[in-house]
Amino acid sequence: MRILFTGGSGKAGRYVAPMLAEAGHRVLNADLVPLGDPRVDDLRVDLTDAGQVYGALHSYAGLDELTLGAGQPRFDAVVHFAALARILLAPDGETYRVNTLSTYNVIEAATRLGIPKVIFASSETTYGVCFADGERRPDYLPVDEDHPTVPEDAYAMSKVANEACAQGFQRRSGLDVYGLRINNVIEPHEYARDFPGYVADPERRLRNIFGYIDVRDLGQMVLRCLQTDGLGYEVFNVANDDTSVGLPTDELLRRFYPGVPVRSALGQYETLYSNAKSRNMVGFAPEHGWRDDIAGGR
Ligand SMILES: NC(=O)c1ccc[n+]([C@@H]2O[C@H](COP(=O)([O-])OP(=O)(O)OC[C@H]3O[C@@H](n4cnc5c(N)ncnc54)[C@H](O)[C@@H]3O)[C@@H](O)[C@H]2O)c1
Repeated sequence: MRILFTGGSGKAGRYVAPMLAEAGHRVLNADLVPLGDPRVDDLRVDLTDAGQVYGALHSYAGLDELTLGAGQPRFDAVVHFAALARILLAPDGETYRVNTLSTYNVIEAATRLGIPKVIFASSETTYGVCFADGERRPDYLPVDEDHPTVPEDAYAMSKVANEACAQGFQRRSGLDVYGLRINNVIEPHEYARDFPGYVADPERRLRNIFGYIDVRDLGQMVLRCLQTDGLGYEVFNVANDDTSVGLPTDELLRRFYPGVPVRSALGQYETLYSNAKSRNMVGFAPEHGWRDDIAGGR
């Protein structure tokens, strides 16, 4: 497939975009800054500018495509990761502006141009726990995609707005638009650096509902979504099968969530951020976790 990938120079994109290339896809990274990976082409694009977005979605991926002599080939899919990826990188209004405008532009252009698949990064923060002022508990556990999304911070509000916009464009176009409510993304080197601290002090992970997702497994989820057609509009939680702390899940429930309804039986270390829908609908099966990297993790 020819894939336009936004935000491929970021923390998650610099792993996921090359993974798609390694899987045989042609990938053009649309970002404010180049990735500089030989497996991926770069195009400097400010996605808040609709003209630039339309231009990028009509673009050659590289000079070699000129030799075909048949004009710009069409993109088969858009993977949209670019964003201001949390609060406090910019003032709140700017975070909201950049994320909502860029996502509107990308999904409007992709669906109007008839690109059959759009996969966009939403966030665990939509559930309102991560960036709440003080502690907010989920309405129930495990948190699944039916849980209310009423966050109180500008970043998560922008992601909820992105989902509404995506759902609207999907409804009009009938194309496939899948949103990924990604949990906290972990790069391989972060296990040894950070997870001993999480095990020693599990409360540090309370705002992530104790979940995490290895960046390589996030890449797998994007690949699964590229392979799965015909779902229309869907959102998927993306998280590992286990939690990011050493405690058994029933101990987490006792210690941190007294009184919160628990809707399903949970395995010994099972995540409280449900990935069941991703498993069932696109065959997601995470393969990388902190226990592989840290001796004595279990
Ligand atoms: N990192 C996480 O733990 C996490 C968790 C949940 C969801 N997400 C979401 O996943 C996506 C990727 O996250 P990340 O951690 O890689 O973010 P990141 O900040 O590392 O990368 C974002 C990329 O987007 C680019 N970008 C920003 N504004 C742009 C614009 N106007 N035009 C073009 N490019 C622009 C940046 O240059 C950067 O390369 C984001 O949408 C983020 O909100 C991330």
